[in-house]
Amino acid sequence: MNAKLQVELAAQIKKLDSISTAPAILTPLLEMLRLPSEKISIEKVVELVSYDGAIAAQCLRLANSPLFGRRQTETVRAAVMALGLERVRSILFGLCVNRVIPQDKWVIAPNAFWRHSLGCALVTQTMAKRIEYPDPEKAYLAGLLHDLGFLVNSVLYTESFRECLRAAAEEHAPLHIIEERVLGFTHCESGQMLSEHWGLSKELTDAAGCHHNTGLLAAAGPLACLVHLSDLLCRMRYLGYGFDENTGVDIGGDAAWEILVASYPALKSMDLVCFTLDIDGAMDKIVAAVDCVFGAREPVAPALT
Ligand SMILES: [Fe+2]
Ligand SMILES: [Fe+2]
Repeated sequence: MNAKLQVELAAQIKKLDSISTAPAILTPLLEMLRLPSEKISIEKVVELVSYDGAIAAQCLRLANSPLFGRRQTETVRAAVMALGLERVRSILFGLCVNRVIPQDKWVIAPNAFWRHSLGCALVTQTMAKRIEYPDPEKAYLAGLLHDLGFLVNSVLYTESFRECLRAAAEEHAPLHIIEERVLGFTHCESGQMLSEHWGLSKELTDAAGCHHNTGLLAAAGPLACLVHLSDLLCRMRYLGYGFDENTGVDIGGDAAWEILVASYPALKSMDLVCFTLDIDGAMDKIVAAVDCVFGAREPVAPALT
């Protein structure tokens, strides 16, 4: 991105606060996101979930999904307990963030966006646990928020972003490549700026900012690498942006995997075939959980509005 565009984008992102119709609970949520887990009050979380019928329904559906053992969860409090405070905090935030986009500004279908974000959150967390990354819940949040830049591009560059989606679907090409061509910047760059503007942590900001740029992953660290791989896996398993891409995934040959191996030497001896099969098996459950929350994916791509 050139310097002039960078200044313009930064100025536009400041305007987002007045353009968007962020729900009232976004401010308390942003405050809660900065707290360490042990300081989060369950009462406050139940209150925030209950505040909004649609959000409460999503939590109940996820708590009742196969991923959480298909319990018969009927109250918000029981759903919060079943999912765990950290996960509910992430879900709440993700759902709130979705609403930052006014209805007429959605470029990608909201369900496709949310399916991809939730899928990526679950895959990032699963991979984090497998490699013994110390904070799997943070990995979940990083996966959930990695495409924050979609919000910026949808609200501030609606027509150009629509053109990007259309061209990417037609060419079966990764969206960020087309964004670079059409907009002059990618959703990684705009997402990084929004994350900084909202005061999210450096790790979350880096994951949003670097997940499509393998050249930046080494400096960004393991979390961004996990998000990069999860995003690829989701896009290959129909949890993408609603269109098919001509891209394959080779975890062992990916730059992100090499960086992870350097940070976690135990991975060197890990059987990559078993690991890949393991993640692939988890993907089935994750796709089922996402389907359970949002309904099965429509067979016809692309999911443009
Ligand atoms: Fe992305
Ligand atoms: Fe993504």
